[in-house]
Amino acid sequence: MKNVLMIVGHSNYGNSLSNKTIADTAKGNTNITVRNLADVSDGFNFNVEEEQKALASADIIVLQFPFHWYALPALFKKWMDDVLQFGFAYGPGGDKLSGKKLVLSFTTGGPSDTYTKDGSNNYTVEEFTAPLIQTAQFCQMEYAGNVCSNGMLYIPDMMGDKDEVTAKAKDHAKRLVEHLESL
Ligand SMILES: Cc1cc2nc3c(=O)[nH]c(=O)nc-3n(C[C@H](O)[C@H](O)[C@H](O)COP(=O)(O)O)c2cc1C
Repeated sequence: MKNVLMIVGHSNYGNSLSNKTIADTAKGNTNITVRNLADVSDGFNFNVEEEQKALASADIIVLQFPFHWYALPALFKKWMDDVLQFGFAYGPGGDKLSGKKLVLSFTTGGPSDTYTKDGSNNYTVEEFTAPLIQTAQFCQMEYAGNVCSNGMLYIPDMMGDKDEVTAKAKDHAKRLVEHLESL
């Protein structure tokens, strides 16, 4: 497997079950470096130079996140706004991400049958990720697909089954590693 950087962006990592399980499972693979934005941010602020250095060192970049209102969690969006700068990711001299592969790895609370044209969410998960796919292309990266798990909502004593969601998250990590190995 090539050199993989998994960036985990969750606005409330302390309450995460799925994304935490996926990140912890992925950590066991020597070719995957896990960078948790909860650990490298001060509030919603980042050391942009350090973030850019981490991105530049990877062959494959994985964005790991839960759907929050059909999009990246706010912390991850702020990271993207701050880090993908003119002269780094685009514009003159902005070729530092050129040729790298981007994989989207995410979880949704809604079940898979809601993410269809006729389902309650009206669009597929792939359609909701169009801005990220285009961001990859704008930054001269190659979009290399997604790994998605639906029905991952777990709220203690209220919603979801912890063991079931944990098992699905571990399976997600396995599918992600298989996908990364195929790239
Ligand atoms: C603020 C917020 C917004 C959410 N928006 C969506 C959504 O748009 N679609 C969806 O399917 N699930 C949504 N969910 C559910 C999360 O995607 C789900 O709980 C998450 O994928 C589980 O991962 P975690 O255990 O790492 O938090 C939302 C949850 C929160 C807290």
